[in-house]
Amino acid sequence: MTTAPENQLASLQQKVESREARIGIVGMGYVGLPLALLYSSQRFKVTGFDIEERKVATLNAGGSYIVRILPSEIQEAQKAGFRATSDYSEIAQMDAVIICVPTPLDEYHEPDLSYITGTVKSIAPWLREGHLIVLESTTYPGTTEEVVVPLLEAGNKSGLKASRASGQRGFYVAFSPEREDPGNETVARHDIPKVMGGCGPVATQMATALYGSIFHRVVPVSSPAVAEMTKLLENIYRCVNIALVNELKQLCMKMGIDIHEVIDAAKTKPFGFQAFYPGPGLGGHCIPIDPFYLSWKAQQFDFRTRFIELAGEINTAMPHFVIEQTANGLNEHSKALKGSKVLVLGVAYKRDIDDLRESPSLTIIELLREKGALVSYNDPYFPTVGRGRHYDLNMTNTPLDNLGQYDAVLIVTDHSDYDYKTIVEQSQLVVDTRNATKGISSPKIVRC
Ligand SMILES: NC(=O)c1ccc[n+]([C@@H]2O[C@H](COP(=O)([O-])OP(=O)(O)OC[C@H]3O[C@@H](n4cnc5c(N)ncnc54)[C@H](O)[C@@H]3O)[C@@H](O)[C@H]2O)c1
Repeated sequence: MTTAPENQLASLQQKVESREARIGIVGMGYVGLPLALLYSSQRFKVTGFDIEERKVATLNAGGSYIVRILPSEIQEAQKAGFRATSDYSEIAQMDAVIICVPTPLDEYHEPDLSYITGTVKSIAPWLREGHLIVLESTTYPGTTEEVVVPLLEAGNKSGLKASRASGQRGFYVAFSPEREDPGNETVARHDIPKVMGGCGPVATQMATALYGSIFHRVVPVSSPAVAEMTKLLENIYRCVNIALVNELKQLCMKMGIDIHEVIDAAKTKPFGFQAFYPGPGLGGHCIPIDPFYLSWKAQQFDFRTRFIELAGEINTAMPHFVIEQTANGLNEHSKALKGSKVLVLGVAYKRDIDDLRESPSLTIIELLREKGALVSYNDPYFPTVGRGRHYDLNMTNTPLDNLGQYDAVLIVTDHSDYDYKTIVEQSQLVVDTRNATKGISSPKIVRC
């Protein structure tokens, strides 16, 4: 029996209100797992889907594999009905399915949508009328309409279509970008407004009902493409502004001006300025990658995204700049990089998190090794660093003692656990890429 979209909307709204709505979240990673916990904390029964059996088993045993998520949080969610599975047939029992799978770049620096297409193909056979599917993975404008919807329509045997207009029956699809800022304790996740673009007004209303139950503000937009582009604008804005300060930092160094003092002064302006900080290069799953999703798409329109390209060029060169500054610092001590013992502090891509995807530390370690330096690392969040998509380091965490044995200590990630004063006191040479030694005066410090 089929039901009109208006009834399906009312039915979902009622199920959300009564917490009977069953929510499936695909991808139990840095985005999907916290979202699952958020829904669980609001008494929803959530099922987490992941293809990695290790993650499924850990979650079902009440454990966690993300440092900032405690096992007790998983166990609390289990009491509300949370469980994990790799069995896609369970999609049929869900009312809404949220997709949070990775969107990396491939070896040619082009969008790799294989995780999204793989997920969507696995969901499609289990679709039923009234299902709501929401994509959260960051991607180029057009993905939801041009990739997700056609695959969902082609993959279900009953010939169901996406419902776009009033009176049209089927399933419902929306895009809602994730705006997580790992390690940011200043804004609670439910206080981050959620942008929502559905394929048609009913899809937007359904997704708004679903997310409105846990987020304080939902911002509906006219289409999935607008929502997809919104996320890219946010990330490109960061990428370009970071490139700007990275470039100005290099000029300031030549001019004998402290860029951090300049930024601190500029940010006292109460309007028209937002502070961005220079660093050793971009890291993480978003800022170094997402802008290139748009550059790639722009080619279809015979359009070049020059800001993105220039920012990419400047930011990608930063690890090389750090190596140059380290070599200069060693030179002052009549030493060469080749044969020098170098300790890299921090491999996470940013402070106080356990994520090293695209971390500039990895590039810096590789570059140091290429130059013949003897490299060790310390990072409280990573006992080992093995192999990833773009690196194969095979290293073990070195304890933070006997710092005097290193010819140079490089601060690449400014974890708050580090005692920078002691580090400077005990080291021969400190190269600080994060302004972590602010306020410490020593001729041993090279700030870059
Ligand atoms: N991490 C962040 O801070 C952040 C912030 C904003 C947006 N995003 C975006 O969110 C998306 C997810 O990022 P993430 O950091 O959570 O990635 P992640 O790698 O931490 O997690 C993705 C999960 O999806 C699983 N997976 C992959 N293919 C699957 C499939 N076919 N079926 C089921 N599970 C599958 C993986 O095993 C993994 O557990 C990306 O598009 C990313 O750009 C991430």
